[in-house]
Amino acid sequence: MKPTDDLVIREVASEDVEDIIQIFKTVYLQDESWARSALQRLLAIPNYVMLVAELESRVVGYIDYYVLPSIWEKWNEATINYLFIHKDYQGKGIGSKLLEEVVKRADKIGIVELHIATEKGNERAIRLYKKHGFVKEYLLLERVRKPVHKPSPTP
Ligand SMILES: CC(C)(COP(=O)(O)OP(=O)(O)OC[C@H]1O[C@@H](n2cnc3c(N)ncnc32)[C@H](O)[C@@H]1OP(=O)(O)O)[C@@H](O)C(=O)NCCC(=O)NCCS
Repeated sequence: MKPTDDLVIREVASEDVEDIIQIFKTVYLQDESWARSALQRLLAIPNYVMLVAELESRVVGYIDYYVLPSIWEKWNEATINYLFIHKDYQGKGIGSKLLEEVVKRADKIGIVELHIATEKGNERAIRLYKKHGFVKEYLLLERVRKPVHKPSPTP
């Protein structure tokens, strides 16, 4: 039996936020209270879909995506924003399962373009994405500056 045979993938409820924070802690978490409030705010956005993977009732993975209409093309497009697997559960196929679930949901609603981004050096994520058909490459540029004010809690 594969470790992912018992995996349950379901939509996030606000009670899951603490468990998701626990996953972030094993991977990357800059500010716990900010992340907690960010998750609650994302939960309130229509068309922002948040999913968790559960193994034996333990939340071990998180993925989210949003759907927006394209202006260029006559269709909606989707973007995966975050994918995180608990450090102790990486390399067991859970990232693949979460990605497959989003691809399945996107196909079901007729999404033609599904986007996902990661840092250039994240070989592990890049390999995972390519394996799942994310092969067309775009260039995402970023301008970074130190925030001069405390970030506001509203986007
Ligand atoms: C990247 C990440 C999401 C992958 O999830 P995962 O559950 O560990 O991955 P899987 O077990 O499903 O592996 C799927 C594929 O990923 C790649 N992969 C997984 N672990 C790898 C490793 N240690 N080295 C290289 N490639 C790896 C492989 O292509 C693998 O397929 P294969 O086993 O058939 O070769 C997970 O490691 C993670 O959460 N990392 C930290 C956060 C992150 O980088 N998120 C994504 C970008 S924001």
